[in-house]
Amino acid sequence: MAKKFNRTLVTSALPYANGPVHIGHLAGVYVPADIYVRYLRLKGEDVLFIGGSDEHGVPITIRAKKEGVTPQDIVDKYHNLIKESFSELGISFDIYSRTTSDIHKQTASDFFLELYKKGEFEEKTSEQYYDEEAAMFLADRYIMGECPHCGNPNAYGDQCEACGTSLSPTDLKNPRSTVSGSTPVMRETKHWYLPLDKHEAWMRQWILEGHKEWKSNVYGQCKSWLDMGLQPRAVSRDLDWGVPIPLADAKGKVLYVWFDAPIGYISNTKELLPDSWEKWWKAEDTKLLHFIGKDNIVFHCIVFPAMLKAEGSFILPENVPANEFLNLEGDKISTSRNWAVWLHEYLKEFPNKQDVLRYVLTANAPETKDNDFTWKDFQARNNNELVAILGNFINRALVLTQKYFDNKVPALNELNDYDKATLEEFANVKKNVEGYLDTFRFRDALKEAMNLARIGNKYLADTEPWKIIKTDRARVETILNLSLQITANLAIAFEPFLPFSVAKIRRFLNIENLQWEQLGRTDLLKEAHELGETELLFDKIEDEAIEYQVQKLLDTKKSNQAEIKVEVAPQKENIAFDDFTKVDLRVGTVLECKKVPKADKLLQLLIDDGIKQRTIVSGIAAYYQPEELVGKQVCFVANLEPRKLKGVVSEGMILSAESKDGGLSLVQPLKEVNPGSQIG
Ligand code: MF3
Ligand code: ZN
Repeated sequence: MAKKFNRTLVTSALPYANGPVHIGHLAGVYVPADIYVRYLRLKGEDVLFIGGSDEHGVPITIRAKKEGVTPQDIVDKYHNLIKESFSELGISFDIYSRTTSDIHKQTASDFFLELYKKGEFEEKTSEQYYDEEAAMFLADRYIMGECPHCGNPNAYGDQCEACGTSLSPTDLKNPRSTVSGSTPVMRETKHWYLPLDKHEAWMRQWILEGHKEWKSNVYGQCKSWLDMGLQPRAVSRDLDWGVPIPLADAKGKVLYVWFDAPIGYISNTKELLPDSWEKWWKAEDTKLLHFIGKDNIVFHCIVFPAMLKAEGSFILPENVPANEFLNLEGDKISTSRNWAVWLHEYLKEFPNKQDVLRYVLTANAPETKDNDFTWKDFQARNNNELVAILGNFINRALVLTQKYFDNKVPALNELNDYDKATLEEFANVKKNVEGYLDTFRFRDALKEAMNLARIGNKYLADTEPWKIIKTDRARVETILNLSLQITANLAIAFEPFLPFSVAKIRRFLNIENLQWEQLGRTDLLKEAHELGETELLFDKIEDEAIEYQVQKLLDTKKSNQAEIKVEVAPQKENIAFDDFTKVDLRVGTVLECKKVPKADKLLQLLIDDGIKQRTIVSGIAAYYQPEELVGKQVCFVANLEPRKLKGVVSEGMILSAESKDGGLSLVQPLKEVNPGSQIG
């Protein structure tokens, strides 16, 4: 039996307060979450929308050190920037708070203590790298050294980006601390672990059996984690920035940022509703939803639920509608490379165009796969859809009413067949939009709302009231009455998506808020109702504005390239010619290419080597999509001893070189050659 819910608690991932928010965050998390809560509010449902900044974690401390300020300075700056820009974009949080608040520190600390008292943690002592100069334990990312597999001198403590192997810091040869540059030493340290393995059984049941309706990207990731087997996870860190572990023997230790951050959802609810927060988190008839990006799935679907379950009095999420990533002009968005469209800059450079960004990010949302944002597409969607369809229709309906009927809603006279057909077309809009919104398909929902504007636009274009006003006034009354009713319907259907424009439409129509339930009706405006003043809803975006943005990105690219200090590896010792000829280098053609399951970095290629088909595994998944390599010629070492990588036997090695942006570029012959051709 389907559960009956009486209220909905919507959370959206707490962004790290160590940089501004960009369009990737917006498209993935905040715009869809906001659409959803606006929709529920419009339906008169009981809903709460929780946001806030995530202000702990190692990167914030590193950044503070670099800039010579305190971590608190960093998070103060970005928390305020983020909070303001969200509010300007109309992201309608009921509260936007932060994880450095007192109430959060208390809540997170108590939560830990509760689990500790219940015996829900395991204590383990282990040896970890310690930087004596900086007097700190080193997080994996802050240790570099030589990769034991490929010899790359700049491998990180968690992985080698050159060969794609996952590492642990002790695998590295000649490790060095990136904090001080010194050689770290091993030191014993004690930590508290959440034994996720003990939660595996109920979790398999809960997700794999109980939530088959979750988006396939979410369900699939959960399944693959569960199938691999869950491991205990440390919930503490040796660090001086975070929520202190509330135990006597835990000096210098804080909660791991991923332990305290999701508790931030609870703290912020408490801050907003000190007396009634518990029903939002503990009542069985509350529906809890987490809006997040795909990199957060494991924390929201596995780790946080395990924490909530271990505590014992909390409900679990009913759904976690995670999105994939948005790219920018073909490249991964990157804060450190400044490859992004920053929200606070957009708001300055495109004043009063919040809805244009909301529209484009929704129309192009990465719901089922990664998507690309381009400025050309941004311009086209504004000019061809918002201006030419939605804005144009509403403007014509209003201006004609002004001109012919003294700005008052004319009478609805007899309907002809064409009117009836038009009404029939829009009769399904409510059901369709609802169906999509209820299942988190915001792109489709928006398309459906836009379809209503298309219907209106076509109706006016086909009926041409301006041609018959002299001869058939009664007919024009009906046409404009219906057009205005459609306009009022647009003010309902678009409210979740384009709140600023809808506020304007309501002013134009001189009406108060409408309810979702009224969507689809043709009696929203009474005859003789006086309309308000009209202006254009959207303006065209000119080429210059777009060229300016594209140039800005080109400049970023240029300065990034100038900045990358290429560390050229020293030349190796001379070898004899015979030694060189021992290496059998060849060219082959890629026949098939796919990702290696459970290995983010690896692609598996099937190569026509002129003699047979051979499989080669290569650590290039971050730099190439599988489909773009099919049909390409690549160079490879043919006589390298076969090696098993993530369960796949690799018969050789593909040649690649570091590209200018620090990625990898495959090496190719200048002219097409026969598969199997030897290189030498
Ligand atoms: N700060 C994290 C990120 O940006 C998200 C934290 S979500 C929360 O990836 F659950 F921890 F709050
Ligand atoms: Zn390596």
